Amino acid sequence: MENSLPEHIAIIMDGNGRWAKKRFMPRSFGHRAGAQSLNKLLKEADKIGIKHITVYAFSTENWSRSEDEVSALMNLLREYIDDYIKDNKNSNIKIDAIGDLSRLDKELQSKIKKLEEISSHKKGLNLHIGLNYGGRDEIIRAVKKLCLNVKNDIISENNIDEKLFSSYLDTKNIPDPELVIRTSGEQRLSNFLPWQSVYSEFYFTDKLWPDFDIKELIKAIEQFKNRDRRFGGR
Ligand code: IPE
Ligand code: IPE
Ligand code: MG
Repeated sequence: MENSLPEHIAIIMDGNGRWAKKRFMPRSFGHRAGAQSLNKLLKEADKIGIKHITVYAFSTENWSRSEDEVSALMNLLREYIDDYIKDNKNSNIKIDAIGDLSRLDKELQSKIKKLEEISSHKKGLNLHIGLNYGGRDEIIRAVKKLCLNVKNDIISENNIDEKLFSSYLDTKNIPDPELVIRTSGEQRLSNFLPWQSVYSEFYFTDKLWPDFDIKELIKAIEQFKNRDRRFGGR
């Protein structure tokens, strides 16, 4: 039987650097092209009725890149948010961030808050952006909050189950992704949504992120529709 349209697609947007290198341009040029490609894709994905997209924009490990590259990525994020805020009347997209935002600079943190507020009443696609996101870090933060609540008798150890634990994660209000896409030919999770993706279908493509468009997304969805999802059953 064919699966229906996935409600939630998670995307590891990889390959910006290689895309720029092929053009003899700096890596930041690739990141800029990647952000534009994301914007176009989101509008189209909203039109075809996808409810949630989570994108991996900056991982907890990406701090180990050069200072130049990290600051180019942060500047791009600032610009992205400013553009959205300026132009938000034309947008249908609701945005929030997942990850440990406390490590971002204060000004950026308040920009993100403003972005979330401004878009909170939008009725279209929900975009979740992974910023300083790492799956293991997310789990550790959840465990710490949980421990504190057990210690303070707010919850009892006996009540801890998968559902309760999920509610301590950054993705608490988001269904698990049915489909995880990674571009650029790499075939790994790189610390992206490990808890949430245990039963996701994976789709890998050699396309570099700035070249990934709605046609490519539809290809991934078509393949997803034909996957046999068994969830451990027969
Ligand atoms: C993905 O592109 C964007 C981020 C990780 C921020 P990369 O920057 O990883 O590009 P490649 O993998 O070096 O080509
Ligand atoms: C994963 O890509 C992180 C993002 C897309 C933000 P990386 O390029 O950082 O991952 P690795 O280093 O190839 O595993
Ligand atoms: Mg990469």
